[in-house]
Amino acid sequence: MKILGISAHYHDAAAALVVDGVPVAAVQEERLSRRKNDAAFPLAAIEWCLDRAGIEPEALDAVVFYERPMLKFERILTCALRAFPRSWRMFPKAMKNALGEKVWMRGIISSRLGVPASKVLFTEHHQSHAAAAFLTAPTRSAAILTSDGVGEWATMSVGRGERRADGTTSIALLREIRFPHSLGMLYSTFTAYLGFKVNEDEYKVMGLAGYGRPTFADAVRKTIRRTPDGAFALDLDYFEFHTTADRSYSSRFIDLFGPPRNPYEPIDLATEEGRRFADIAASVQLVLEETLLDVARALHAETRLPDLCLGGGVALNGVANARLLAESGFERVFVPPAPGDAGCAVGAALYADRIHFRNADRDVPDHPFWGPSVSGDELARIAAEDKQFVDELDERTLIELTADDLMSGRIVGWMEGALELGPRALGHRSILAAPHDAAMRDRLNCEIKYREQFRPFAPVVPVELAERYFEMPPGGTRLARFMSGVFPVRAEWRDKLQAVTHVDGTARVQALERDMAPRLYALLEEYGRRSGIAVLLNTSLNLAGEPIVNRAVEGYSTFLRCGIDVLVAERTRVLKRGSLLVKRKEDLA
Ligand SMILES: [Fe+2]
Repeated sequence: MKILGISAHYHDAAAALVVDGVPVAAVQEERLSRRKNDAAFPLAAIEWCLDRAGIEPEALDAVVFYERPMLKFERILTCALRAFPRSWRMFPKAMKNALGEKVWMRGIISSRLGVPASKVLFTEHHQSHAAAAFLTAPTRSAAILTSDGVGEWATMSVGRGERRADGTTSIALLREIRFPHSLGMLYSTFTAYLGFKVNEDEYKVMGLAGYGRPTFADAVRKTIRRTPDGAFALDLDYFEFHTTADRSYSSRFIDLFGPPRNPYEPIDLATEEGRRFADIAASVQLVLEETLLDVARALHAETRLPDLCLGGGVALNGVANARLLAESGFERVFVPPAPGDAGCAVGAALYADRIHFRNADRDVPDHPFWGPSVSGDELARIAAEDKQFVDELDERTLIELTADDLMSGRIVGWMEGALELGPRALGHRSILAAPHDAAMRDRLNCEIKYREQFRPFAPVVPVELAERYFEMPPGGTRLARFMSGVFPVRAEWRDKLQAVTHVDGTARVQALERDMAPRLYALLEEYGRRSGIAVLLNTSLNLAGEPIVNRAVEGYSTFLRCGIDVLVAERTRVLKRGSLLVKRKEDLA
């Protein structure tokens, strides 16, 4: 059975194709259109998925959209009417958005793809998140917790999933919290208040939190009332996201926390004002963690299951995830590589396969690499035409030379195989660098990523060595498989891992298994042999404001426009002319 899953129209649209119960292709629209967080109907992603599998739309058994547009429309309409007349300015815009192509999804999908309307199915938004989390995890029975900004009405749901011996599957969502009460919206409101972009920069709040102390935690707790079973309700006097598109927080919110940050002014942590913003970030982070912990503890007490699957954009919060693993009572916590809405394309297709069509249970391969493959030949051709130094090397030589490059302080763009699904580069579209000196972090922030100094970089380490460098709790390496947890760097290594250690002594570790990305694993081993430390700095291969690169040409363009010294795609290695000469001089000296 061939099922296409689609997520679109909120942020980060994507398509995924599931054939006989297993994903065969999945990609975010932004990676093909090159527009970051592209939310448009993902025609390019759909075409690529179908091409990849060599099938025509007519061969599809079903096309599944990841949420129910009419329910979402109902929520937008209800909220606008409830908030009238305060909402009057937002109302026409919301109606135009909802009444555009979003509500009429069945007809849109049917006409754009040329499939009969009867083949178009819908899942609920949080069912898609739950399926993306549970059905891709190597567990047969698990509690499920999904949390995001909002889908149709639900903003958080808890439940359980079972993959039974007879091949049947169930995903039962037991309870939900509904809009406008939303942990994702709470965090996003603070994201906006702190002068960052909502739905995009939430991780900057998490990074900034590391610099602060949670001195505003009691103030944040005033904005969210919690009940002992873990449920919560926002005090809506502090928020305006549900009534107006202009601003997500109210004047009472400003009375409580002080003036918001001007997005155009840098955060100076040496000033009282800068520290106030860091403290506020630390405070909302703490309250998010506490709230999630209460929900998860209650869910553990109720289900008595050892495994927890997390879905929804809130599951991108690696600090909270690590606390859930350590303190909620669950022994293992699974977070898929794309817990946000892009992953819902996979979730919706899998949900339809297992639950709607009742197809037999299948194991889903445990990796994030579902997108287009990079071509080393293409890189060689482009770079040679541009008169760069191009080598096509055997595997061993390439690994050794790249380890030498990293040892000598060169920054390496590393492209390999199929593109990752989800926001994190997990070894196929990465920028790699030596992790030892803080100067490397600053160079990457200034010359490559053009981003705030307070932003940390992540380390990648062979899974067997993760505990040597990082304090991994039981189950921690699993959470670190897709960089979903933040863990302390062991005190004795912090000095040697400065570029990947955050100011609070933690790191968002990727614990790499050899089978998942064998070439990167080999490079880590080779670098470990040379440096004595088998850890590399790993950040996504893209410039600020651009999506992660997909094809060789995008990798090459990124390489030209920033301080990357060496670019590798498959067995092709390109050395930047300028940087080669500089390094040669340095080497001679
Ligand atoms: Fe979502």
